[in-house]
Amino acid sequence: MSKVISGHAVSVDGYISGRTPDGDEEFGRGLGDAPMLFDWYFDGDTPSRVFDGFRLSEPSARLFDALAARLGAVVAGRVTYEHSSRFGGGSPHPAAPLVVVSHRPVPGIGEAQTLVTTGIGDAIAAARAAAGGKDVGLMGGGALTSALEEGLVDELVLHQVPILLGAGRRFFQQLPKHVRLRLLQAVPAPGVTHLHYEVLR
Ligand SMILES: NC(=O)c1ccc[n+]([C@@H]2O[C@H](COP(=O)([O-])OP(=O)(O)OC[C@H]3O[C@@H](n4cnc5c(N)ncnc54)[C@H](OP(=O)(O)O)[C@@H]3O)[C@@H](O)[C@H]2O)c1
Repeated sequence: MSKVISGHAVSVDGYISGRTPDGDEEFGRGLGDAPMLFDWYFDGDTPSRVFDGFRLSEPSARLFDALAARLGAVVAGRVTYEHSSRFGGGSPHPAAPLVVVSHRPVPGIGEAQTLVTTGIGDAIAAARAAAGGKDVGLMGGGALTSALEEGLVDELVLHQVPILLGAGRRFFQQLPKHVRLRLLQAVPAPGVTHLHYEVLR
């Protein structure tokens, strides 16, 4: 069976999005003049083979492209979807269609996008059906927490950025039980450390 992988750029204090000085939340922004969570997408000289316009350091490009090439579909929580300008009616991944998960109707879902309102398990099943045997990516701390609670996540990737954001949306929300992880690889790179874990069951 294809795997479910959830990878996020995360601050050292565990936030996947930050707040601007006026308190507004913005996708991936740090505080004030603080570095962004996604600087490492663009601060190298190795072009991504998957994402046009990304230029990463060589170790980041190797890891990032290998993960991205595994994906055949992506599930995003409704907040991620809305904070990302609805992905312009498409998907965050150039070759993997998007499934949005919510408990309710979401206005503006695009024709190329699928909305699932019957739970994270159904959203992941819909993504698997669309993924053509490839793996499923999972975006958003809330969606990830739901999927972890139901034992549906196989791998976790923290692209850990050396910044303390102090506030924002947490990567991991409250879980009802421990989840054990096994480190598969740790890749230090300029501006980011990639931590790739297997979720043990
Ligand atoms: N740093 C990164 O790499 C990265 C990556 C992705 C996203 N982000 C950012 O991180 C933030 C994510 O926010 P978040 O973690 O609060 O939210 P999220 O996971 O994107 O979305 C949470 C929402 O998803 C829906 N949902 C989750 N589990 C569900 C379930 N089991 N059944 C039905 N619906 C379910 C609910 O929508 P309803 O409330 O509509 O029911 C819930 O409120 C955003 O700001 C996003 O832009 C950062």
